[in-house]
Amino acid sequence: MDIINNMKKNILFSASFLSSDFTEMKNNIEIIESAKADFIHFDVMDGNFVPVITYGEKMISDCRKISKLPFDVHLMINRPEHLIPEIAAAGADIITIQAESTIHLHRVVTQISELKKKAGICIIPSTPIENIIELLPFVDLVLIMTVNPGYGAQEFIWEMLEKVKKLKQIREKHNYKYLLEVDGGINQETYKPALEAGVDLIVAGSAFFNCPAPSKFVEMIKGGF
Ligand code: DX5
Ligand code: ZN
Repeated sequence: MDIINNMKKNILFSASFLSSDFTEMKNNIEIIESAKADFIHFDVMDGNFVPVITYGEKMISDCRKISKLPFDVHLMINRPEHLIPEIAAAGADIITIQAESTIHLHRVVTQISELKKKAGICIIPSTPIENIIELLPFVDLVLIMTVNPGYGAQEFIWEMLEKVKKLKQIREKHNYKYLLEVDGGINQETYKPALEAGVDLIVAGSAFFNCPAPSKFVEMIKGGF
């Protein structure tokens, strides 16, 4: 899977099915694939790091059997190092951990890379980018949460775009390789400012699934700004 390197010039889209009906997974994947999303975004939640429990590695491996799209797995779980081998074996392509979820972040990022998966680091709205500065040379992706994680269909926190702008400048200055991803509250009004700030990979859940023609939503995102 080298979609990250191959598609760096293009705007990428990752569809989150968090707010959709989980008994309809085949259909959800069909919608995502026919809309030509680049990734399926999996929100793994443990009821501890975030209030909600969603699903774990079985959902990912079951979906792996019916989709060839790369899987962008967002771990909202404490101590993710204990689950990463299972998530990797289940068929994840990108594994993103929360910077607030464990102590030895460099070790966990290395763990993901050694499993030959792309390694992402994510920060919640209250975490400053300074907390992940030392990790930036080692990650393939930085995910900036634009809502507090746990739920779909929340309101976009505009101030987070300053983090995106700074991370873009830092990437240029040091020639780092990471993609910039945003997650939460992306819709018809918020995607353009996010792209203008420097985002490469957009996640959307409710706005994508609520769109009468999801393929138009993806075309809109990929059309840029
Ligand atoms: C929130 C999740 C998101 C969520 C986004 O904690 O990480 O991926 O599904 O949903 P929307 O796009 O509806 O804000
Ligand atoms: Zn997510």
